[in-house]
Amino acid sequence: MELVLIGFMGSGKTTVSQLLAQKLQKQVVDLDQEIIRQEGKTINEIFALDGEEHFREVEHQLLVATAAQTKTDILATGGGTPMRADNAQFLKQQAAPVILLTASPQVTWSRLHGDEQRPLARQLNVTELAALKAKRAGRYTDCADFEVITDNLTPTEVVAKIETFLATWSN
Ligand code: S3P
Repeated sequence: MELVLIGFMGSGKTTVSQLLAQKLQKQVVDLDQEIIRQEGKTINEIFALDGEEHFREVEHQLLVATAAQTKTDILATGGGTPMRADNAQFLKQQAAPVILLTASPQVTWSRLHGDEQRPLARQLNVTELAALKAKRAGRYTDCADFEVITDNLTPTEVVAKIETFLATWSN
């Protein structure tokens, strides 16, 4: 594994990981997509039918499994992945740099508003979303080797910042 992307929902992990993979000619694995594939259900369905605890267990198992796969050059995690202590520990132990994408609550809300695919965000107003983000912020920062604040950046500009960071990264 060469790089891990973490960050709150709507921070741009999926978009940026795909663009980065294209630019660097690398393979990207999206943890949410792996969960959907393995379970044969949408994330909403998993939360509704099996519960969040089951989702988190599958997420943990697939985090460990995908990180070990040779096809995983770039790993885009789910927004909640680093919240489990064992996942955070696992991410920090990787030789690959962990890149944190952040956005302000307002920008995050505008990106997520109307999206029905995220069970933990779809009921939240901007204040509640900001509270959840604030609750998680310390854990994200703790796991990250580099942070990109994406509010005023296009995905291409975010990728450029990551590339500049990678050029200086040695582990
Ligand atoms: C979650 C984030 C989602 C997905 C699930 C739970 C979270 O991933 O894993 O809905 O707890 O923040 P994205 O960050 O890709 O939306």
